[in-house]
Formats: sequence, C-alpha cells, structure tokens
Amino acid sequence: MIKISSKLPGVGTTIFTEINRYVQQYHPINLAQGFPGFAPDPSLINELGQVKDKTAHQYASLGGNTTLCEAIAEKTEKLYGQSYHPESEITITAGATQAIFTILSAFVQKDDQVIVFKPAYDCYEPAIELQGGKPVLIEMKAPNYQIDWEEVQQKITSKTRMIIINTPHNPTGTVLTKNDLLQLQKITEGTNILILSDEVYEHIIFDHRIHQSVARFPKLAERSFITCSFGKTFHITGWKVGYCMAPKALMAEYRKVHQFNVFCVHHPSQKALGRYLQNPDHYLQLPSFFQEKRDFFLEAIQGSKFEFSPTQGTYFQTLSYRQLSDEKDTDYVIRLIKEKGLACIPVSAFTKNHQDDKMLRFCFAKERDTLKKAAEIINSL
Ligand SMILES: Cc1ncc(COP(=O)(O)O)c(C=O)c1O
Repeated sequence: MIKISSKLPGVGTTIFTEINRYVQQYHPINLAQGFPGFAPDPSLINELGQVKDKTAHQYASLGGNTTLCEAIAEKTEKLYGQSYHPESEITITAGATQAIFTILSAFVQKDDQVIVFKPAYDCYEPAIELQGGKPVLIEMKAPNYQIDWEEVQQKITSKTRMIIINTPHNPTGTVLTKNDLLQLQKITEGTNILILSDEVYEHIIFDHRIHQSVARFPKLAERSFITCSFGKTFHITGWKVGYCMAPKALMAEYRKVHQFNVFCVHHPSQKALGRYLQNPDHYLQLPSFFQEKRDFFLEAIQGSKFEFSPTQGTYFQTLSYRQLSDEKDTDYVIRLIKEKGLACIPVSAFTKNHQDDKMLRFCFAKERDTLKKAAEIINSL
C-alpha cells in the first residue's frame, strides 16, 4: 500500500455523504439537495443548440467569452451601479466553487487568517486550509443568524487576510442589510483586508428586499471579489458556469492562478449564456418565481408543528423541529428519511463545531407536486 498523508484528513466522512447514501437507499421525497428539480428555460437550451460556429468548440480566452463578459458588466452596472471592465475585471469560472477556490489560492498565504461566518457553505474552510491558512470562525446565532460586527472587529488581527460573506445566505436564507455592509466597510477601511462576497443567490431574494451586493459600496468594491453562479440563476447547476468580478489589480493576480487552474471553461455554454443574458427578464423574474414556491410550501405546512420565519432569500427554508423531538438533528434527519420518506439537511452540517440548534434546511426549488408531498409528510409529524 502506498502511504499518503491527507491534506484534508477530516473531509470525506461528512453528513452530506451519509445523507446521500440514505437517499440512494430509501428514495425519499428529496428536499435535501440544493438544486432545482425542474428543467431550465427551453430557450436557454435552444441557445446552446444554436452554438454552431467553429470557434465555440475551441478554448475560450482566459477571461471568458467577450459577449458574455460584456453582458455581465452591463447587468452589474445597471443593478448595482458599479462598473467592471469586461476584459480585465470579470472572469468566467467553472461555477462559483472554482472561483472561490482560486481566489483563496491566489491570496491566502501560510498562517493567514480568513474570517468565515458560521453556519457557512462547506467549500470555504477546506480551501483556506489547503493554502496553509487558518479559518477564523464567527458564529451567527440561531434563529436570526445575524452578524455581530463588534465580534468581527475584535477578531481582526495583523494576520487577517480576508473576510468571506455570503448574501443571500446558504443555509439560513438570511440576507445582509445595508447597515451590515456599512459596518463591514467601517471595519475594513484603511486595512489590507480583502473581501470575498459570495453572491450566488443574488437574484433569489424575497418580499421586495434589495440585494446588498458589495458592488453597491465603492469602498467595499475596491477590496472585493464577487462570486456568482449561472447554475443558481438559470437552473443549470450541471453546466457549472459562473464568474467572478474584482478591480483590475486584484483580478490580474487572480488570473495568475486561474490560468493554471482551468485556464478557461466550457465555451459553448458561455456563448449560449452570452445571448440569453441579453434579456434582463430572465433574471428579473426570479424573485417572484421562487417567492411563489416559498409561499406555496410555507402555506402548505402552516398547520405543522415546525417553527419558522419565511426565508428572506435563496431557495432554502429552515424549519425548527424543537417542538417535535430532542434528538440530534443528524439522527432526526436520518430517521425522517428512513421512516417517513422525506430528506432534508441538518443545519449542524454548516455550524461551528456542528452545534445542533434543532434546525433543518429544506430546498424548495422543486415542482409543486414534490413540495405538496413533502408538506403532507411534514404535517403528519
Ligand atoms: C453559498 C454557495 N456558494 C457557492 C456555491 C457553488 O456554486 P456553483 O455550483 O456555481 O459552483 C453554492 C452551491 O450550492 C452555494 O450555496
């Protein structure tokens, strides 16, 4: 046997893997996985089918397809008032995951500290650790999951290299307010701290809230990378295409790593997306599209014993089962799958030290019929 010393010894045995195994075995109604259960817009598929010119089947340029980058620049400026140069400040990536990994590889050095708010999406910490960096975890407490900016100020040291924020937030569905962003601006002003703003759910935001992109705040934008995902925006997670944006000097440094990481990503998808993005309705109608699903789901479980407040953004709804059981959330989820035929994700999969707040995450990016069946099970508990 070849002896290997794992760089990520704790990874590989996560609850996600375990839940997936139970899902394969028991075939529950599945509101666990964070991807849409319905087809993308046929006109986007049609655009992909129309990609026929010879060049589209060869490498795209390092930054990405020009039409697509220009469309992204236009959309960002219109929505958030910040201009990013399509050639030098926008890079098309293999989903937001690759963008995040490459940003961390490019900027985090050994012993650098990166502030991560917990609960958090699971790709940040391993990527920091692989660079020899140290995740500094700051807890957002259930059930409201607000950031304590005083604590952030206290945790900043001379080694703080970056702060990662995520709004709208997976798994809690909370969104940062203008005041949050102003606090972040105040704390980072005059420092060399970079910000990684994970905004993959920018278009999935409810009840007329405004997405507070760092791009709206020039003093934050000058030190920030924004990561976005067409997978999330256009129901095409399998295409694995996203992008990141940052001021020129930061993007130049990012691309030093990106070129050896992937160089460029799937070109036909970029061509199709470049054309599809010309029509702003394709993303502007998303809040109402998903809000209808959220409201349908919440209405359907109104009489259940679960406690919740309507999610503010993302296609995730957290529900507290405090009134139903004292079991650990992981045990409760496994029992739900096995005995009731319903799958979701325990929020302790994302929390600091896997703290169990009796919270479950349900993905409502599903067909009505699936949501209805899930609601029937939820109401029967
Ligand atoms: C908060 C967050 N960031 C990034 C990603 C990754 O996005 P992509 O599929 O584009 O890599 C996800 C996917 O679930 C996510 O929830």
